[in-house]
Amino acid sequence: MEQKELPALKDVLKEDFFIGAAVTPGQLDGVHRDLLTKHFNTIVAENVMKPEWLAPEPDLFIWEHVDKLISFSQNHHMKIRFHTLVWHNQTPDWFFKDKNGNEMTPTEENKELLLTRLKTYITTVVERYRDDIHYWDVVNEVIDPDQPNGMRQSKWYQITGIDFIKVAFQTVRQVAGPDTKLYINDFNSMRPGKREFLFELVKDLLDQGIPVDGIGHQMHVGIEEPPTLVDVEETLKMFADLDLDNQITEMDVSVYNNSTDKYDTISEDLLVKQGYRYRDLFDVFRKNKDMISAVVTWGIADDHTWKRHFPIDRLDLPLLFNEQLQVKDAFWGIVDPLQLPAKQ
Ligand code: GLA
Repeated sequence: MEQKELPALKDVLKEDFFIGAAVTPGQLDGVHRDLLTKHFNTIVAENVMKPEWLAPEPDLFIWEHVDKLISFSQNHHMKIRFHTLVWHNQTPDWFFKDKNGNEMTPTEENKELLLTRLKTYITTVVERYRDDIHYWDVVNEVIDPDQPNGMRQSKWYQITGIDFIKVAFQTVRQVAGPDTKLYINDFNSMRPGKREFLFELVKDLLDQGIPVDGIGHQMHVGIEEPPTLVDVEETLKMFADLDLDNQITEMDVSVYNNSTDKYDTISEDLLVKQGYRYRDLFDVFRKNKDMISAVVTWGIADDHTWKRHFPIDRLDLPLLFNEQLQVKDAFWGIVDPLQLPAKQ
């Protein structure tokens, strides 16, 4: 089928949820733009909204990349997610320097300084973009199921406890107002064990009146379980029962299921299998569409994906469109599974 005759993903899913892709500013013209605007109605920055890009130095903000994404989303009537205000990675060191320029240690004074910096940073960013952004990832990856209390021992946590999370959500709400939606985002959030820690944290935050609106489930998954389809459905329900929205925020389906295999070429059979995995996951999403407002893939097509370098350097083809930007079985798994070749 000619590309231009293909059904558009966003039309196929229009009764279900928004469908998005992570993008770089360089992908906003030419063939990538055409693919993006045909199939997707939501975007997020792959990198340029992260603190190390936005504020590499204290008092130096670089807005141009995010401004570009925002005007693109507006010109094309797309929703836009902001990812991410607070994270332990891709955050410049200056946040964590004490008043003498040394690495912060956990003291009351440093806690106050760090929380003040956080408030100033968030206020500056949110004031600029509050009328443009629909969904904010306020904090990213704060859970670590290997810790007895389930909290990642990041610098944020070591210095402020969970106050950085509370202050972050409160500040965004204060500056952006009641209508914008605020998310806590994490990976493996559908795996039993980790999701219970996430659930307990969010419940505690809600009990304390902290304005959390939803969970962002990154959904970087492999071609086989986990997560099981039952885990996916149960997780969506767990959080919906707290009156929270769910978004799938960074979906890709690696053709591998471990961090050691490495293929020189990826077989047809594997791509078909991937098509079925996408089909199965989207079946669960669509069945539970009332609990999900958006599904976002972490990239537009296989010509640009972080999975080429994570967890090791290897060929991987995790998205819905191939390196030539043509549809894959993964696309048909969502759009029309009858087009999928029989499973081997
Ligand atoms: C995590 C982050 C994303 C991105 C991916 C890898 O999932 O949340 O921002 O960095 O890793 O690209």
